[in-house]
Amino acid sequence: MVEEMKLLISQGHLLDPATGRDGTCDILIEDGRISRIKKSLSVRKAQVLPARGLLVFPGLIDLHCHLREPGREDEETIESGAAAAVAGGFTTICCMPNTEPPLDNKVAIRFVKDRARQAACRVLPIGCLSVRREGTLLAPYGEMAAEGAVAFSDDGSCVMDSLLMRRALEYTLLHQRPVISHAEDFSLARNGVMNEGALSVKLGLPGIPRQAEEIMVARDVALSALTGGRLHLAHLTTQEAVEIVRAAKKRRLPVTAEVTVHHLTLTEEAVLGYNTQAKVSPPLRTRRDVEVLVKALKDGTIDCLVTDHAPHSDEEKETGFENAPSGMIGLETALPLAWRLTLKDVKPMEVIAAFTTRPAMVLGLPPVGIEEGQTADLVVFDPQKEWVYRREKVISRSKNSPFLGWTLKGRVVYTLVGGQIAYRSPD
Ligand code: DOR
Repeated sequence: MVEEMKLLISQGHLLDPATGRDGTCDILIEDGRISRIKKSLSVRKAQVLPARGLLVFPGLIDLHCHLREPGREDEETIESGAAAAVAGGFTTICCMPNTEPPLDNKVAIRFVKDRARQAACRVLPIGCLSVRREGTLLAPYGEMAAEGAVAFSDDGSCVMDSLLMRRALEYTLLHQRPVISHAEDFSLARNGVMNEGALSVKLGLPGIPRQAEEIMVARDVALSALTGGRLHLAHLTTQEAVEIVRAAKKRRLPVTAEVTVHHLTLTEEAVLGYNTQAKVSPPLRTRRDVEVLVKALKDGTIDCLVTDHAPHSDEEKETGFENAPSGMIGLETALPLAWRLTLKDVKPMEVIAAFTTRPAMVLGLPPVGIEEGQTADLVVFDPQKEWVYRREKVISRSKNSPFLGWTLKGRVVYTLVGGQIAYRSPD
């Protein structure tokens, strides 16, 4: 908590995709808002956060994470997930509804909003697309939207019934919230556990062909064209999916897309040795796919970077590859891992936009720029600082990450939520 009403972020380098600001400034924060931005400010009685040599940008927004509450509080809670989020520079996170029970009604959405009041950052619930995520009956969108659901999705499962998907997209025209599609044809993916190809054959594991994604992305885009409905495609992994989205955007269809940080960082090789920490849904793909996804992020075909933070217990992960659940945690590592893209011709401003202005646009949230009068949701980031991601330091309640032991470059120094210091780096 902040000790004083006034906070001065001194001499940080602002990088703000909303306003295009790119230079050293002082930022004064009063009563939770940015009150002044100037090359140099002299302020009496302000708490000073020295930021010379550090970057200052808007708080990150994660469109896609799993918080496991209600139902699996042993793996994560809204509070523990939010604590991990602010350590990673996130000030707003959107949680998927595949909890136990699923978030498929107004009471469940209200429960998340109530719990989120105690959390270190803003938590925005996503409601189920179908009742109990069963893929047969539409969930009650009106009441969930009224309670604060920001989007609708059966993430974790593909909506196989095309008529149901059509109706869900039609309803987006009424409630003005996107449908988020886990586009992976489950009848084709079946019991697959990794990318289908030479490596899956070598490892003797059932594969998921890339066409499972291509088929459903094509279907969903076709249904968006049919209905005019707002479609957001979750965690894309393949070159073919990117090409379909590129064509859809050319036709000016209301379609947006995201990629996870892990799908940009790892390839299918990460599962070698039957490493269950690298088992995710959809699966990690090939080097070529990673290159295409990076290019698509750069040219705007893919709008956002997300974590798909998916906590799982050690007991569940420490089993045979085929039986282990899919998913890895990601909130604390997303920013430094994404920052590696700046070595690959993606500009720092573009990385920040993919985590701030663009997800805000996908959800139709208010603008998030660093401007006088704006809510002070900010990150102070040291792009040079190297640190080792160690199990003992993980804030998330679950530790399932293939990045444990990695030396990461780039560290969040402060995260401010509504002008309050929600996270301060211990080193
Ligand atoms: O890897 C994943 N884990 N992908 C999903 O779509 C769901 C998630 C989970 O809930 O564990």
